[in-house]
Amino acid sequence: MQIAKTITEIRACVSQARAAGKTVGFVPTMGALHVGHVSLIKAAAERCDFVVVSIFVNPTQFGPGEDFEKYPRPLDKDLAICEESGVDAVFAPSPAEMYPRQNLTWVTVEKVSEPLCGRFRPGHFRGVATVCAKLFNVVGPNAAFFGQKDAQQVAVIQRMVADLNMPLEIVVCPTVREPDGLATSSRNQYLSPQERKDATVIYRALQRSAELIREGKAAAAEITRYMGEVLRQVPALRIEYVSIVDAESLDDLRRVEGKVLVAVAARLGSTRLIDNIVVDATAK
Ligand code: PAF
Repeated sequence: MQIAKTITEIRACVSQARAAGKTVGFVPTMGALHVGHVSLIKAAAERCDFVVVSIFVNPTQFGPGEDFEKYPRPLDKDLAICEESGVDAVFAPSPAEMYPRQNLTWVTVEKVSEPLCGRFRPGHFRGVATVCAKLFNVVGPNAAFFGQKDAQQVAVIQRMVADLNMPLEIVVCPTVREPDGLATSSRNQYLSPQERKDATVIYRALQRSAELIREGKAAAAEITRYMGEVLRQVPALRIEYVSIVDAESLDDLRRVEGKVLVAVAARLGSTRLIDNIVVDATAK
């Protein structure tokens, strides 16, 4: 496995692979890799000949007071996971390599960035879209792989790629869950043992919404009210939002019709957790 710290080095690795006729799959990450990331790497390896993983804790997607400083950076462990998972090249740049001067050029995906997490993390999706645009320009992959758990991130990136005619495919992979339903996330390691137990209530609430939709309930406000009842079984949980939106545009829905995204964000202690499911209301 090749490890590149600079843009010049990773471009050289990818050029060599391209010269050998290989297709390039790319998994952008902020490190602290877990089984969810490994599933993205496996998906990339199934579809592409050469797999690149980036490990970069992107400062521009963290707001003031968020966990940028404390975000875990276990680089040696991450590199071992990449090696075991058959990654061909890792791009692990420094902040100065990615942002050598004050950044004056930003990618803002309007509308799709605004609801849900956008209301609670102003500027977050601008940082995500900008760093992904930069990483796509640096690596030049045929396809990039993202997890459904970050549904709004996926919607933002898909829209950016479509609007800016970026020549790559965005592949969305299913959310990987712990046996008790908690979606895997690098931030789960912040949870205390009690918070870790409490966190499972989020998936229970999402499952409740799927049951209600299958039973024929269509009023979004009624479904989110029932979900709130489940979530409030854990008094320590501070709900940011419980929303039912169109799975593609992320527009708020009053009635559940077609494919909908049911999404939750909540805090337990200092840890912010997000999760979602896509439910097809026509497939009862
Ligand atoms: O999902 C993440 O880990 C990050 O938002 C990403 C896509 C690597 C951009 O920094």
